[in-house]
Amino acid sequence: MRGFRSLKLSLRFVVPLVVALGMLAMAIVPLVDRLTLRWSVRDMDIRSRLITSTLQEPLLELLPQENRQKINKLLLRATQDERLLALGFCNQEQKLIYRSPSFPADISCRSAKDDSQKPLYLISLPQGPVHLSANAIELNGTQIGTLVLVHDMSYMVRRSADTRKYVIILFIVLGVVVSLITVFVAHLSWQGWMDGVRAMLRGEGILKPFAQPVVESELQPLVGDLKALLRSLDAERRLADDSTITWSPDTLRKLLHKQLTGEKIIVVSNREPYIHSKEDGEIKVHRPASGLVTAVEPVMRACSGTWIAHGSGSADRETVDANDRVMVPPNKSEYNLRRIWMSEEEEKGYYYGFANEGLWPLCHIAHVRPLFRTTDWEQYVKINQRFADAVVKEADSYNPVVLVQDYHFALLPGMIRKLLPKATIITFWHIPWPNPESFGICPWREELLKGMLGSTILGFHTPYHCKNFLETVDRYLETRIEHESSTISRRGQLTMVESYPISIQWPPPWLGTLPPIEQTRNEILSELGLPADQLLGIGVDRMDYTKGILERFNAVERMLELHPELVGRFSFIQIAAPSRSALEEYRAFEARLHALEKRINERFSRDGCKAIILKAEHHEPDQVNRYYRAAQVCMVTSLHDGMNLVAKEYVAARDDERGVLVLSQFTGAANELYEALIVNPYHVEQTSEALYQGLTMPEYEQQERMRSMRAQVRDFNVYRWAGRMLLDAVRVRQREKLATRIGRES
Ligand code: F6P
Repeated sequence: MRGFRSLKLSLRFVVPLVVALGMLAMAIVPLVDRLTLRWSVRDMDIRSRLITSTLQEPLLELLPQENRQKINKLLLRATQDERLLALGFCNQEQKLIYRSPSFPADISCRSAKDDSQKPLYLISLPQGPVHLSANAIELNGTQIGTLVLVHDMSYMVRRSADTRKYVIILFIVLGVVVSLITVFVAHLSWQGWMDGVRAMLRGEGILKPFAQPVVESELQPLVGDLKALLRSLDAERRLADDSTITWSPDTLRKLLHKQLTGEKIIVVSNREPYIHSKEDGEIKVHRPASGLVTAVEPVMRACSGTWIAHGSGSADRETVDANDRVMVPPNKSEYNLRRIWMSEEEEKGYYYGFANEGLWPLCHIAHVRPLFRTTDWEQYVKINQRFADAVVKEADSYNPVVLVQDYHFALLPGMIRKLLPKATIITFWHIPWPNPESFGICPWREELLKGMLGSTILGFHTPYHCKNFLETVDRYLETRIEHESSTISRRGQLTMVESYPISIQWPPPWLGTLPPIEQTRNEILSELGLPADQLLGIGVDRMDYTKGILERFNAVERMLELHPELVGRFSFIQIAAPSRSALEEYRAFEARLHALEKRINERFSRDGCKAIILKAEHHEPDQVNRYYRAAQVCMVTSLHDGMNLVAKEYVAARDDERGVLVLSQFTGAANELYEALIVNPYHVEQTSEALYQGLTMPEYEQQERMRSMRAQVRDFNVYRWAGRMLLDAVRVRQREKLATRIGRES
């Protein structure tokens, strides 16, 4: 098809070219004929004069003797020359008195004399064309007669025909060669142009063979214009999408059905959304404490499809079918959960080791040094491959939409890309991305980056993390980075790097089903044995050193030091879900936390009212939600956090538009929730002051701040997070389709 297009294109040049060459040939052939003739006649004239001068002497000797026999013999001998057809001698009275036997009867002395005046003389006789020349024979300066020479010119006809033939052949060859060159050049140009346009549509620059950017390509201005146009169209569409689309489960469903032709989505994460475990001989289902699960689960319920995750629950194997699948949510069956199994040793290396002792501290600047072991890396590679194989098994088309979640699967996009080259792979990195120097200490940095660049779209929470990632890639890999479109091109694979701030479900799932805030607060206070007017603060985290829980406790302590009137009147509830406790660092952290809680409570507990209530156990989302609704202040003091969804959950829980959020400046959420009291958690006084400010904030101010934050979480909910990634994926797919179409038709 591509060859046919360039052939058609070049025919537009070739046909006129061939016509022009034909006309040129028709004009040149008679010209060449005339020239050949002129040269031949001149040649004959010279020969004639030469023969005349050779015969002059014997003729002058024989003519006075009038010896006819001898003279005729002389003439006959002279005509032995192959071209000289005949010779004749005319006297002064124009009478042919001597002649060779072959002298044509049609030629007379008179016509020879008349015509001898002409420089060229050619006549046509029955035996063919002849050249006639008449040269004077003089004796002592007086002409005594004329020697008439008749040369055979039929060779001229043959030579002229040959010349014409060769000229025509020459022009045909010329036409063919020029046509071939034109077709070839047109084909190359067309191909180059199309490659350029295709590359541009894919978001690349124009790449020369061997991936050298063509800086001075003649296509550059055109491609530049097209790219600018596409970029501004994309920007306009994004802007229009942002301002016109109200994101809900329904919008997401419609997007999938209309724009992604009903594609079934495949989500991959380490943590599963529902964990089955055996408790007292009974199978129970739990929702894990995971921001990732909080965000992705509602998306999955809206879209349906398959979620592939590690089956880590003690009753997980008992609840799956023969294909390791179970429909969830329990009793609703909205999507498939496909469980992947791993041995203890595999989990130790891949999850605890490489992911959580290596990548987790590497990406979080929280003063815990990363640890990298080759054995952990090997398990990480092995488990990533196991998930990649599962993706292929679960895919029901050659180009599925796969959503890869988090740092457990940096290699997975590259592995899927190898197995399903046409897949749309959207990878979301839920944790921060460090600067190039920090990331550079990972011994397998190149492998991780290459794996991630198998993604079609790579998402981070903030533009800052995107920037760090682009700089890291720039530092450690040979790639081409287009900063304007935030696209990385590596070996023909394009990855768009964008920020997609994650969020939570809106409207909240419990909307309209919960008792009023006052009632919940009273219930909680009574459950905790606290007086009805006790002020409450809340913190909800996994038991993790990045969450700034120690710093938070220090701030509570400092506030009570600075505001002793609140001692016994304020309690801070910390829900800390057990997490990664197989790791020494986490166990040590938990021990420190308990020790700090003990010390503070010893100082500031009054009349059975603890200053800090540490609940180091798992809580289901609905329980957590009750605490959010009961507490006057929520503290999110992470030392480094991609987003932190606790902040958004607290805002969503407060349908009374009351409550204050104290929020670390080192969370992604601080980029969105400006009305929170933003703090540096390392600064004890600043954080304690914010806590105090929150507890004493007038209601109208609480309302104003909370209302504004709720609008933000409502508009920028998790459906928008997923929707924006899917819309970008749709655009990439459309561009790829267009590029393929152009490729097919050219
Ligand atoms: O913060 C990144 C993240 O993947 C969260 O989404 C999730 O809350 C947590 O880490 C995962 O914890 P776990 O190791 O228990 O799955």
